[in-house]
Amino acid sequence: MSENQATLNIDGKTIDLPVHSGTIGPDVIDVRKLYAQTGAFTYDPGFTSTASCDSAITYIDGDEGVLLHRGYPIGQLAENSSFMEVSYLLLNGELPSQAELDDFSRTITRHTMVHEQLSSFYSGFRRDAHPMAVMCGVVGALSAFYHDSTDIADPVLRKISSHRLIAKIPTIAAMAYKYSVGQPFVYPDNRLSYTGNFLRMTFAVPAEEYHVVPEVEKALDRIFILHADHEQNASTSTVRLAGSSGANPFACMAAGIACLWGPAHGGANEAALNMLREIGTPDRIQHYIDRAKDKNDPFRLMGFGHRVYKNYDPRATVMQSTVREVFQALNVTDPLFETALRLEEIALSDPYFVEKKLFPNVDFYSGIILSAIGFPTTMFTVLFALARTVGWVAQWNEMIADPGQKIGRPRQLYTGPTPRDYVPLAQR
Ligand code: SDX
Repeated sequence: MSENQATLNIDGKTIDLPVHSGTIGPDVIDVRKLYAQTGAFTYDPGFTSTASCDSAITYIDGDEGVLLHRGYPIGQLAENSSFMEVSYLLLNGELPSQAELDDFSRTITRHTMVHEQLSSFYSGFRRDAHPMAVMCGVVGALSAFYHDSTDIADPVLRKISSHRLIAKIPTIAAMAYKYSVGQPFVYPDNRLSYTGNFLRMTFAVPAEEYHVVPEVEKALDRIFILHADHEQNASTSTVRLAGSSGANPFACMAAGIACLWGPAHGGANEAALNMLREIGTPDRIQHYIDRAKDKNDPFRLMGFGHRVYKNYDPRATVMQSTVREVFQALNVTDPLFETALRLEEIALSDPYFVEKKLFPNVDFYSGIILSAIGFPTTMFTVLFALARTVGWVAQWNEMIADPGQKIGRPRQLYTGPTPRDYVPLAQR
């Protein structure tokens, strides 16, 4: 990193703070010594101007709508790569050779089964439990079944637990769906691709043959690529903070799943389709646009806006074109797609959305595709978690391997009572 300095004047003191530059993107002002030198903290609720770490995995330029994974643009990866290849790239930093990809895919494939006793874990949930609640519980429980790979100080065990998480998350997700619909669990079939295996475990029934539709497999694999990693978003930051205490990787991923569930984050894909269903027909769009603009109405356009993207989310662009591919492959259509296109058109011509730079994000169109493939809305965030697991695992590994890594422990601006003496109950 090249270094220069920022000067800060506070309480009559002047201090110089180092400024670091990355390979691309904004410089950072290193405030690690600020409290020791000034007695003051920085203040940044929501971390709108805070870099929490160094990372070489994903780069986002929100103004330009750029998303790079290890330097490769998301549009090129979505067009030319596969989720297994992108997973290798995120974990290892380089695109694999054919031999490296085959070896990685074989390793992941051979970890897809879960401990047989994990199956009985599901029966503790109500059948109508939200699948994300099941995911939180089951992934958190993995450390009880795979305790032999939880020593995070051992790089070999870190690799094994990383592969176990990436391999088993589709199996666990498919089992959550099967449990919710009262159908028997379907074991992995190692002859299939990562995504084909997931489709079969989700939709196959013992009573008949199941054939993966290649176009659907390709579209879902691309959707997994679009969701794989995204810099220091809320759930990734949760995984890093949990991991900074030395918690095992299974517990850290469960924390990430819990955070992702929120409608402001990964829960937005479910909320966006529910919103489109509530809007129904294009003639009702303006009423919802007006509600989204009304400060007294908590309603927001779900699938719109982003903390970083102040331009079109490049993932939404790919997602929109994928809708048409899946409709054609399945010979289906959905009037909600027209409603979504019209909603986008109206919103992007409205000064409120233009001035606040609110564009469709990755969640706006994904639900339409997932619904067409046959997933219920309650499974949408589960699919997001499935794909994001490799990003969480890559970021977790990067953090653990960082020699400068220490437990994350933010401070606060205290606004509570000043010191006061206890008042006995009889005197209150
Ligand atoms: C994801 O971080 C990531 O990278 C996340 C993600 C990933 O891959 O990990 O990209 C995945 O989470 C995508 C975002 C999915 N969430 C939604 O679609 C939910 C709807 N969007 C919002 O709630 C909101 O846009 C956020 C949460 C996404 C971003 O919120 P910010 O950055 O904190 O912005 P903000 O809430 O301060 O909003 C700025 C202004 C506000 O108006 P003012 O107070 O300035 O007048 O824009 C308004 C907001 O009211 N606004 C919206 C809006 N989003 C923001 N108004 C109407 N509809 C919206 N969707």
